[in-house]
Amino acid sequence: MFYLAKIIVFWFLVQNSLATKTFPESFMFGTGTAAFQIEGAWNEDGKGPSIWDTFFHKKNATENGDVACDSYHKWKEDVQNAKDLGLKFYRFSIGWSRIMPNGTLNSVNQKGIEYYSNLIKALKEEDIEPVVTLYHWDMPQYISDLGGALNVQFVDYFEDYVRLCYTLFGAYVKYWLTLNEPTIQCFVGYGYGVGASGFALPGDGLYQCSYVLLKAHARAYRIYDEEFRDQYQGKVGIVLETNWIEAETEDPLDLEAQERYLQFYLGWFANPVYKGNWPDVMIDRIANRSKLENLARSRLPAFTQDEIEYINGTHDFFAINTYYTSTVSYQEDEPIGTPSYSNDLSVDASTNSSYIDNQALRKLLNYINDRYNPGSIIITENGRATSDGLEDIERIEYLKIYLCSLLDTILEDNVNVIGYSLWSLMDNFEWGTYETRFGIIRVDFDSPNRTRTWKESARWYQNLIATRVLDNSTFIANN
Ligand code: BGC
Repeated sequence: MFYLAKIIVFWFLVQNSLATKTFPESFMFGTGTAAFQIEGAWNEDGKGPSIWDTFFHKKNATENGDVACDSYHKWKEDVQNAKDLGLKFYRFSIGWSRIMPNGTLNSVNQKGIEYYSNLIKALKEEDIEPVVTLYHWDMPQYISDLGGALNVQFVDYFEDYVRLCYTLFGAYVKYWLTLNEPTIQCFVGYGYGVGASGFALPGDGLYQCSYVLLKAHARAYRIYDEEFRDQYQGKVGIVLETNWIEAETEDPLDLEAQERYLQFYLGWFANPVYKGNWPDVMIDRIANRSKLENLARSRLPAFTQDEIEYINGTHDFFAINTYYTSTVSYQEDEPIGTPSYSNDLSVDASTNSSYIDNQALRKLLNYINDRYNPGSIIITENGRATSDGLEDIERIEYLKIYLCSLLDTILEDNVNVIGYSLWSLMDNFEWGTYETRFGIIRVDFDSPNRTRTWKESARWYQNLIATRVLDNSTFIANN
């Protein structure tokens, strides 16, 4: 009896103390999408083809981005949903080839500009901050034909494009994201060829891509600094991505594998932007292996001192996308043979991945904070896929775990995380399939109307945004 009473008292104490944990007033909740994944209208009103249009058309893929969520026509409903959810911000991307059909200044498309102007103004009218990704992988086909991210002139074309965006929308947009996940673009488009533009150059192409994209990002940041910041007072950053990486065991070799993996994956882009130059471990390993491959120079292009300085410091925050935890362990170095990123890395990443890790986000955010000291961090993507249906309880459970971890990071570790963008506002085209559903709003891809219906998770998120308090069960489950 006495024992039972003690449990009841303890239960109430835990509930009460934990229930008082709330997100700070200034914390911003949002959701995200990307142009190619939601807009459709792939060739309407003057839009030019992007590499992803071409990629799926060439394969005659039955699933492609031609219609997607049809947000090009249904954007008002999307803004209404964003408003009803209570979002503080909405992250979306501009389709470069919608406003510049061939990607260059000699083709500027008024209709495309109108589309984004209308969207941005409608969001502002509802007090929803537009957080704008300038480039979410959908390169204009013509720019790709000129060499894409393997041609350093890409940097100039990107400059023209971003200057136009800053000029047109700068008065309304306070958060600009230059590139979304360049790591993935370089992997799929220039390393392993599994996505647009389809180059399988795993030992050189992906490094060349990273070299060009980092220069493009830095140019976009510097242009804003020099020409727009005084007037508009906005913030600019690059969106990087990593899962949290655990070492398989505490063995020093596994711990070294964990660190090497994080340096090769996150540090690849973070180091040049937040510290200057590629991570040493990449410089050394790729140079050594290149030498043994009888190459005259490293497959990882070297930055000049001027370039290092130009790229270093091009950030106003750290924007991170993260989805789950993976485990890595030590392995012997791969023998010299076919050059590739994975051989350069030589870490055994074949083990488990999991969505369920109540410390993942906290560890990752602390890692970022300690390593890169960015001042502030925004989570630009986090979420999970579920099967079709409105009762997406697994998504809610996942969100509780990640948001609880986030709250601990803010309140207990004093890491300055200022916003969270749930991926995604709605089910969308997951780069090859409509089956993988990340949305908190269901989209009926069989209906011509692309009917949107709120899932359980949308209601749950709406309530969280309104109250700022995570429900008690979350804390009990995770403490
Ligand atoms: C991308 C999104 C994608 C999401 C889920 C991220 O890597 O930025 O475009 O839909 O992951 O796979």
